[in-house]
Amino acid sequence: MSEKIYIFDTTLRDGEQSPGASMNIEEKIQIAEYLDELKVDIIEAGFPIASNGDFEAVSEISKKIKNSTIAGLARAKIGDIDRAWDSIKKAKSPRIHTFIATSPIHMKYKLNKTQEEVLELIKKTVSHARNLCPEVEWSCEDGGRSDIEFLYRTIELAIKSGATIINIPDTVGYTFPIEYGEIFKKVKHNVPNIDKAILSTHTHNDLGLAVANSLSAIKEGARQVECTINGLGERAGNAALEEIVMSLKVRKDLMPFHTDIQTESIIKTSRLVSAITGFTVQPNKAIVGTNAFAHEAGIHQDGMLKHSGTYEIMTPEEVGLNKSKLVMGKHSGKHAFNEKLKELGYEIGDNSLMEIFGRFKDLADKKKEIFDEDIIALIDDQVFRVNQTIKFVSLNVNAGSVKRHEAKLVLEVEGKKQESSSTGDGPVDATFNAIKNIINHGAKLKLYQIEAITAGTDAQGAVTIRLEEDGKTVQSKGSDTDIVVASAKAYINALNKLLVKRTKEAPDYLERKDIKGV
Ligand code: KIV
Ligand code: ZN
Repeated sequence: MSEKIYIFDTTLRDGEQSPGASMNIEEKIQIAEYLDELKVDIIEAGFPIASNGDFEAVSEISKKIKNSTIAGLARAKIGDIDRAWDSIKKAKSPRIHTFIATSPIHMKYKLNKTQEEVLELIKKTVSHARNLCPEVEWSCEDGGRSDIEFLYRTIELAIKSGATIINIPDTVGYTFPIEYGEIFKKVKHNVPNIDKAILSTHTHNDLGLAVANSLSAIKEGARQVECTINGLGERAGNAALEEIVMSLKVRKDLMPFHTDIQTESIIKTSRLVSAITGFTVQPNKAIVGTNAFAHEAGIHQDGMLKHSGTYEIMTPEEVGLNKSKLVMGKHSGKHAFNEKLKELGYEIGDNSLMEIFGRFKDLADKKKEIFDEDIIALIDDQVFRVNQTIKFVSLNVNAGSVKRHEAKLVLEVEGKKQESSSTGDGPVDATFNAIKNIINHGAKLKLYQIEAITAGTDAQGAVTIRLEEDGKTVQSKGSDTDIVVASAKAYINALNKLLVKRTKEAPDYLERKDIKGV
């Protein structure tokens, strides 16, 4: 049997640190349940000191998740560690993940501490964490740019103080694979008690090297990989879980390791994360992009027909993409629709199914052909309907070059119908002004993006919107065959997300901003 690589998913913590990717508690729980089903070994559920919302989400996930270990992040501060422990102590298998920066630039400018002071803090905080929790992970933040001799001392001390997992992050995505691998090799050879800990990689993608770096670290002794679904994460993101897992699976000849990941659940988890965060996956993204298994060039198609191995190094089924057997149209019934959802990797409860099926029927009346992408867009819309304080009811707009652009809009706000009309510089502007007449807000539109979901002039348009208010960013999506209606839905979905943030996270948000730079 090959050696196991532990998969530590940090979509809910480092992934959520992407501007606009914030999620509410229900959404985090839903993602955690999918991660558990995917069989990730550890779910880093959040940064409990960062906000009450984070604390609550980590606590709920700890109570609900039955298989994966639940980790809570903490700086090298007693208060952070106590808060992390309080949030994870009900987990079947809890882990405190604590960290401090060890690179000269971070110690001097961010922490204003000497090496000796950092060592003192490691001893104090790791032993405190270990007194509370049976499993402690310690990270040397900016490990990739730290002095190697100092790293040896910090790691030896962290292990002596009770850490059993040592994570060496390339926090700023700066190292090259050969260099990053070398750090692991040296640590393995030069830290006397290293056999008492599991080495872990944590890489960022600023130079597009995150996955390559993680693989290089595994080659040199790392047995835990920290990664996120779709490579979500700070700045250019973290190493993508799906790419690491499939690389290990496909290239067993080079890398004799295995993971316990249920690879058939990759696509549906990727789609859920994309739907919840509003971060669209680029079509050519490895493993989970819509084109990842598409063959268009004639020569490729010919090869594929003769033997799929000519152009496919893994099968779409392995990652949960099943070849479509069912063609959907306006005559399709609920049973066939549910089968199609299963084929696409979704399992939907009865209530939601009825609602999505109703919207599928409406769409089928408007559109001749229903593609899988249309159905995925319906599910995305449903995901965004979780907190619907504001609901879209109807919209009528004057567009074109003759009359002035005017929008007449009806919304339902907390169960009450409200109407508004407004003019604007184009139909979308008029619509957004009409929404603003009803929902007074100071949010700024930071991103407005529209794409056709499929080919054809009757295609649905999917609109992505990012709003920012007082340093809080939310991203959301909406789709419809009418692009102005899709825009209104996306805007309303984003406002609903912002309302949740306002009520649940406002008191702690400023503190959170301070923490974000860690
Ligand atoms: O990138 C990083 O260094 C981190 C640590 C907190 C592990 O995310
Ligand atoms: Zn990170």
